[in-house]
Amino acid sequence: MELHINGKTYSVQSEGDTPLLWVIRDELGLTGTKYGCGIAQCGACSVLVDGEVMRSCVTPVEGVKGRNITTIEGVEEDPIGQRVVAAWVEHQVPQCGYCQSGQVMAATSLLKQTPQPSEAQIAASMTNLCRCGTYNAISAAVQDLAGGGPSAAAEKARMQAATAANGRGMRS
Ligand code: FES
Ligand code: FES
Repeated sequence: MELHINGKTYSVQSEGDTPLLWVIRDELGLTGTKYGCGIAQCGACSVLVDGEVMRSCVTPVEGVKGRNITTIEGVEEDPIGQRVVAAWVEHQVPQCGYCQSGQVMAATSLLKQTPQPSEAQIAASMTNLCRCGTYNAISAAVQDLAGGGPSAAAEKARMQAATAANGRGMRS
């Protein structure tokens, strides 16, 4: 069968009921997508299918034939994925890094569906586990991307200060 991954077409030999995760990692060698629990609980194996996050450890490969799959190796081809990766760097989110490709995919999916998610929507969507406890940094990065985080707040403060300074300049 043929799979469309990160803008390329791959011909794969795996049986149709093989989990997508193993096709991506073992057959195609795209090892950025990680195995954690294997039972759809941790999110380490998350990929995008037609822009929506999916847990590839429980997704039979046959079910994603002909659909557009994005893994961490290709996420920066997506403008939103690129912004997410930049925010992850800016907030220095990763610790050991094992869960982070899944976290980036979850954040990218959220922001593609909902560009300015509320705190509640972020909490409801960012459910991947992180054994290093990077949850606060993840939350800060996503809030920033949603326009309400510290970088966004700092930018707003800078703009307000510049406007006030301009106003003073005009009055003097
Ligand atoms: S490895 Fe797929 S959810 Fe944990
Ligand atoms: S960064 Fe180590 S498990 Fe999340």
